[in-house]
Amino acid sequence: MNQEQLKKAVGRAAIDYLVDGEIVGVGTGSTANCFIDQLASVKHRISGAVASSEATRQRLASHGIAVYGLDEVDRLPVYVDGADEINSAMQMIKGGGGALTREKIVAAVAAKFVCIADGSKLVPVLGRFPLPVEVIPMALGHVTRELAALGGRPARREGFVTDNGNLIVDVSGLEIVDPSGLETRINQIVGVVTNGLFARRPADVCLLATAGGVRTLTAR
Ligand code: 5RP
Repeated sequence: MNQEQLKKAVGRAAIDYLVDGEIVGVGTGSTANCFIDQLASVKHRISGAVASSEATRQRLASHGIAVYGLDEVDRLPVYVDGADEINSAMQMIKGGGGALTREKIVAAVAAKFVCIADGSKLVPVLGRFPLPVEVIPMALGHVTRELAALGGRPARREGFVTDNGNLIVDVSGLEIVDPSGLETRINQIVGVVTNGLFARRPADVCLLATAGGVRTLTAR
């Protein structure tokens, strides 16, 4: 199976986690898009969706799926989203698509976070994928200097503005041995909106697509 087929396989597998009659939270990215396309065929089972980005909102709407704002829903039993990296504790780096802040907000509300990923995303230590950080524009210089002081190599994502009107700084060269500590530390830098470490609120389950089939992982 190629990577596209693996993404489709986990998109399909995540359908099993829908709660009938409820709203589902939907993430952003190419793997989440595979889930959205599968969701279209069972849309009668759910009462709608909450989107983690404008791109996801548009894709859901194009399939005729009702999209609600997060503040319009009382509860969110399940959130399905991809990841750039995930470790055995189900902690992730997210934000390759720049939607990390809304993704983190939706994940915080959801009762269950189902991560869907192909096998290449499972890593022993987070940090090979550059860590995305969403930054208020006027704080760019300050935040960049602070991130460099933490030992990383920060670089502004050129030509990119988030759905919230902010900038993304990608930090490479980090070997993240304490994901929760680093998540907190970076979020304390003034001007940071949030960073792409999902360690304090990890996934509850990861559906990992491999050549041998879809594996179901939980935290070790
Ligand atoms: C977007 C994300 C995505 O979940 C992450 O980048 C993975 O994307 P893909 O499924 O395209 O590999 O966090 O902000």
